[in-house]
Amino acid sequence: MGVDVYPKTLAVIAISLFAIAPLGFPQTPLPDGAGKQLVELICSKCHTTERIAKKRLTKMEWREEVTEMLQEEPDVTEEEKDQIIDYLVKNFPANADAKPAGAQVP
Ligand code: HEC
Repeated sequence: MGVDVYPKTLAVIAISLFAIAPLGFPQTPLPDGAGKQLVELICSKCHTTERIAKKRLTKMEWREEVTEMLQEEPDVTEEEKDQIIDYLVKNFPANADAKPAGAQVP
């Protein structure tokens, strides 16, 4: 019966995830949003996502950064790059971009 198989399937998935996890870099949890999965998948190949999460850049700078990072990754499409850039700009903007209108600068 399918009902009997289901918990076993979950167990197999859980074990597989556990087996794979130690091979990757320890990850800094990223904020949710469109593009998050792409960043986790593509941008954590060579370094942790912490390197990314620490950084605050303008849209132009993120575009340059992503373009540079993905020079050797011809499989990443322009569409995916745009999604990654949008995600980074939204979640890790430079102060100038993030400042809400009327905010007091100390
Ligand atoms: C092919 C390997 C590779 C991939 C894929 C990669 N990076 Fe990097 N990244 C590097 C290396 C190597 C460094 C360290 C460069 C250095 O220290 O100068 C780095 C450093 C960084 C830094 C820190 C730069 C700084 O000034 O401190 C950021 C931010 C970054 N990467 C973002 C990204 C993003 C976003 C992606 C996905 C679009 C990505 N990386 C994908 C190799 C990669």
